[in-house]
Amino acid sequence: MKLPYAEPYKIKMVESIKRSTKEQRKKWIKKAHYNLFNLTSEKVFIDLLTDSGTGAMSDQQWAAMMTGDESYAGSQSYLKLKKVIKKITGYTYFLPTHQGRAAENVLFSVLVKEGNLVPGNSHFDTTKGHIEFRKATAVDCTIDEAFNTTIHHPFKGNIDLEKLEKVFTENPKDKIPFVILTITCNSSGGQPVSMKNIKAVSKLCKSYDIPLFFDSARFAENAYFIKTREKGYMDTSIKEIAKEFFSYGDGMTMSAKKDGLVNMGGFIALNSEKIYKEASVFNIMYEGFLTYGGMNGRDMAALAVGLDEATEFNYLESRIEQVAYLGKKLTEYGVPVLQPFGGHAIFIDANKFVPTIPRNEYRAQALAIELYIIGGIRGVEIGTVLADRDPFTRKNRYPELELVRLAIPRRTYSLNHMKYIASVLKNIYDTRQKAKTGYIIVDEAPIMRHFTVKFKKIKKSTRK
Ligand SMILES: Cc1ncc(COP(=O)(O)O)c(C=O)c1O
Repeated sequence: MKLPYAEPYKIKMVESIKRSTKEQRKKWIKKAHYNLFNLTSEKVFIDLLTDSGTGAMSDQQWAAMMTGDESYAGSQSYLKLKKVIKKITGYTYFLPTHQGRAAENVLFSVLVKEGNLVPGNSHFDTTKGHIEFRKATAVDCTIDEAFNTTIHHPFKGNIDLEKLEKVFTENPKDKIPFVILTITCNSSGGQPVSMKNIKAVSKLCKSYDIPLFFDSARFAENAYFIKTREKGYMDTSIKEIAKEFFSYGDGMTMSAKKDGLVNMGGFIALNSEKIYKEASVFNIMYEGFLTYGGMNGRDMAALAVGLDEATEFNYLESRIEQVAYLGKKLTEYGVPVLQPFGGHAIFIDANKFVPTIPRNEYRAQALAIELYIIGGIRGVEIGTVLADRDPFTRKNRYPELELVRLAIPRRTYSLNHMKYIASVLKNIYDTRQKAKTGYIIVDEAPIMRHFTVKFKKIKKSTRK
């Protein structure tokens, strides 16, 4: 008998989470203007809003915190972190930042100019936000298979080389400062990019003399998928795989809150001394001195250990298999979820789940709200609300997919929690025909509206 995976850790400390009633939750979500970001955490039973900064640190990381060197300049923790980053990524230069979007802000301050095009694979919203904020355009070159939720493609995060080359040939080179490859690709469902694709993108970029950067928030999970799905990598370690793919690029931005296994932090790592020097000026302005950026010494110390732990196979196996367990249970119940399952999250296909709610009434948001009301579970909409308005026409952008993302924090919830989540969704799925109306927006920010948007529940459908 093949033995199942088991977590390569045991529990040393627990944190209570509160259950509430459906009536309480109905009241709370209304008061929160039907925006799940507005709920205070004690009103949530299982929090799947994000896997970002919500994981559990190990005893080794907590021990490292005690050794944190809080010196303003030349911190030992900075040096330790620099060494680990060099070991794992191969990149020589490194700038600490307070989180991933800060790394984007600093790097893009150097590289992105008005009118530029930045091709990539379904850019994450903060990445796109930082590009559009500079009056540049993010061009999505993801393969078409990524937009079909039922196709079993092992690497749905891949870039379509033809789409990418078209951007290169149809635009002057100086309009394309770099290509950004998100590994794994959050916006297309936590889907990985294959080594073959990374190599090919790198080759194409080199032939047009355009740099390649990685948005590396979940690079270790991407490496796990390469190891388990791509021919030729079964016997290669996660660390070797990561080192190989990073070698095909010029640098990376990192949200350490994911595969850094810490609650806060980020960094830029790269090869070019020139870009490093220019970025250093912005880092000092926006983040802090070069040897701490936006981070405490103790957080850099914990991150150095976290990066090592996150690139261990046994940890990654238990992480990815836990997510897959939830996906399999939901599939068993008939709930439409994105296939194959993502590395950090399960994505429910709201277009298939509640086609009865019109798209202009934010059906994925409506489903996320129902999930909270019925089970106290907080997921997040990855659909029209997140896609925001077109910066020029100000019209709603309707993405191909309307998803509810259930992001699983690392080393935090048990398999029983996964069973509970699946049961709640099954109950909602069984009564889905009753859902006819959604929500309208009554207030929204000009950019990245999903964090603060306010909704009103509508009683009469806008469907004509
Ligand atoms: C792929 C990707 N890039 C960038 C970021 C931004 O990182 P942070 O939240 O640390 O600012 C995220 C956050 O979720 C992400 O998933």
